[in-house]
Amino acid sequence: MVKNHAFALFNVDLKKQIHTNALPKHIAIIMDGNGRWAKQKGMLRAFGHENGTKAVRQVVEGCAELGVENLTLYAFSTENWNRPKIEVQTLMKLLVSSLKKEISTLQKNNIKLATIGNSEALPEKVYKELQDVIEKTKDNNRMCLTLALSYGSREEILNTVKKISLKVKNNIISPEKIDESVINKHLYTQNLPDVDLLIRTSGEQRISNFLLWQIAYAELYFTNVLWPDFTKHHLYEAIIDYQKRERRFGKTSEQIN
Ligand code: IPE
Ligand code: IPE
Ligand code: MG
Repeated sequence: MVKNHAFALFNVDLKKQIHTNALPKHIAIIMDGNGRWAKQKGMLRAFGHENGTKAVRQVVEGCAELGVENLTLYAFSTENWNRPKIEVQTLMKLLVSSLKKEISTLQKNNIKLATIGNSEALPEKVYKELQDVIEKTKDNNRMCLTLALSYGSREEILNTVKKISLKVKNNIISPEKIDESVINKHLYTQNLPDVDLLIRTSGEQRISNFLLWQIAYAELYFTNVLWPDFTKHHLYEAIIDYQKRERRFGKTSEQIN
């Protein structure tokens, strides 16, 4: 109790250091390290995934409270289908139960749920639950929470190329008219702004096929914290670090100051 209280005060202190007028408009997180977290405790990987949902709640709540408009979480990649069948099943079950459990929190906090990725590859049960929550939260406008599920950036870009090519073939668009905004409109992330801050937990420093186009100018933040241990405190640390950086977008420091 005393420890929790001290920790809460510490968080308040850290939160105060955040400039709410310069928040990243879009935070994306590669939630990694569930398996290693469980292994360290001598438990099965599933235990890590279950505890990872607590960290999801922390970042969703933390971002919404601060006023971050878009949060995108990498929950399952196209490559993750290659994991042992039992682990994939565990993750899918966990997804359904979390969606059922969290819908009321999303409603209460005025958060809209969206998804990116190949939803058709998901089991019927997951797909239906997802559509249900998306439909029920569609008018919420405090924050957009996007789950990347069965998501792969290369697949997304491939789909985009196919969709645009078809439009060219059918004379709906001419090749000269294809610009960055046309590509943006055909990506899964069509309604989202570019990523400002990309966080990856667990010490790995790679992108693993996540939002390749959308992170062109994102600030990258890597932490050794394993995903189930990630709290609001760590989120605040990442945002404070982000706010100390100078985003130059190719210009000189003098030009932007
Ligand atoms: C992230 O944790 C969850 C998913 C990728 C679904 P991992 O399961 O990748 O955990 P590690 O990397 O093996 O520790
Ligand atoms: C990336 O984590 C995918 C998700 C977090 C959903 P992985 O654990 O699958 O990534 P790699 O295989 O270590 O690159
Ligand atoms: Mg991993």
